[in-house]
Amino acid sequence: MHRIVNVVGVGGSSRPGSTAEQALRIVLDAAQRRGASVQLIAGPALAMPLYDPHGTTAPQARRLLSAIAGADALVLASPAYHGGISGLVKNALDHVEELREDTRPYFSERAVGCVAVAHGWQGAVSTLAALRDVTHALRGWPTPLGAAINTSTACFSPAGDCKDTHVQEQLEEIASQVVEFATIRALATSTT
Ligand SMILES: Cc1cc2nc3c(=O)[nH]c(=O)nc-3n(C[C@H](O)[C@H](O)[C@H](O)COP(=O)(O)O)c2cc1C
Repeated sequence: MHRIVNVVGVGGSSRPGSTAEQALRIVLDAAQRRGASVQLIAGPALAMPLYDPHGTTAPQARRLLSAIAGADALVLASPAYHGGISGLVKNALDHVEELREDTRPYFSERAVGCVAVAHGWQGAVSTLAALRDVTHALRGWPTPLGAAINTSTACFSPAGDCKDTHVQEQLEEIASQVVEFATIRALATSTT
């Protein structure tokens, strides 16, 4: 028997229930159905002071860092803002610098699913690539599949359901990949 793995989702926008948050919730729900425990850090929980390498860590940032430090896997979701990661999400990720001295520094040893939402394909794809680059920089393992979602085709219902089967399948596959990687690592580290 392996232990239950913990998947932490970080992302969205300042608007609770944003499309990025809806996509993130779908990945986390799917991860939960695959046996993981999940934690969501989205919307107002992402609002924290601009990262200052010489400053003190604000309570919001401490909560984020504690969740990331305890995670077995991560899922990041950002809207495309002018072709890249939104300032809100990027600032939260910049705070991860404070985990440089952690036992598992930054995102080390963890799979990271990346999801970008935009009003067109160009922004969706460039933002997905940026999330994957940040994941590499933070020593994480981007999952083979990431999701670039074009919201101009309105693929989410007001209740948060995904109306596009292909997008739903992609988000579920990302959940499978993060849970599988985290489970394999949990097994490997429990026997070493
Ligand atoms: C400041 C700002 C910049 C944006 N820049 C882009 C962009 O470069 N490309 C794009 O396709 N969509 C862009 N959008 C649209 C958002 O990415 C899109 O509406 C997204 O679905 C909003 O996500 P949210 O509901 O999670 O906030 C921008 C929106 C805002 C508010």
